Amino acid sequence: MNSPNNPTGRVYPRSEIEALGKLIDSRAPQATLVADEPYRKLVFDGVSVPSILEATVRSVVASSFSKDLGIAGERIGFLAVHPEHPDRAALLAAATFSMRTLGFVNAPALQQRLVARLTGARVDVEQYRVRRDLALAGLARAGYECVKPEGGMFVFPASPTRDYVEFARRLARTQRILVVPGSGFGAPGFFRVSLAVPASTIERSFAGFEKARTA
Ligand SMILES: Cc1ncc(COP(=O)(O)O)c(C=O)c1O
Repeated sequence: MNSPNNPTGRVYPRSEIEALGKLIDSRAPQATLVADEPYRKLVFDGVSVPSILEATVRSVVASSFSKDLGIAGERIGFLAVHPEHPDRAALLAAATFSMRTLGFVNAPALQQRLVARLTGARVDVEQYRVRRDLALAGLARAGYECVKPEGGMFVFPASPTRDYVEFARRLARTQRILVVPGSGFGAPGFFRVSLAVPASTIERSFAGFEKARTA
């Protein structure tokens, strides 16, 4: 599971996570619940993100420092396997083995030492909160419907036309606004707007969003 969610910004409440943990323990004892949570520290309005580690011992947290330290592209993150996971040793051995043999980008040792000292740090979340509110208000004025993200760095409005992929293309072609169609996230009918741009860029986009909708 992915909470705060990319792209909806939804934070799953404790009750849902507890129910999921119970389901795994009672019905799927071979399963492991994996939380993909690089946006954990990017939450707004005092929201906190309940941990899956409290819901079931069959849990693994996979995270990245890309977002909370603003170092996307460095590919530095971590895996945390529940200390009482019955397959903990095998899981950790498999993860280590995979990193060695698959040959994907691996964080240099110096970076790993540095980043371990930064676990208490994070980027200025207030900037994202300001951009979220700016985007929500501007998109609403331009006639778009959108749920309010509780975290993350995206907003996910509904496409005003049935063919949401064509609508994303229209935004790019006619207004030079790049969005990602919701199909990439299993959510057809929507598109993702990134807040990882200056507030002035978000502000400038509203006229284009309105023109594309009314074209
Ligand atoms: C939910 C989620 N998980 C993982 C990642 C991967 O992060 P990285 O490869 O930058 O560490 C991303 C990046 O967009 C993401 O949105």
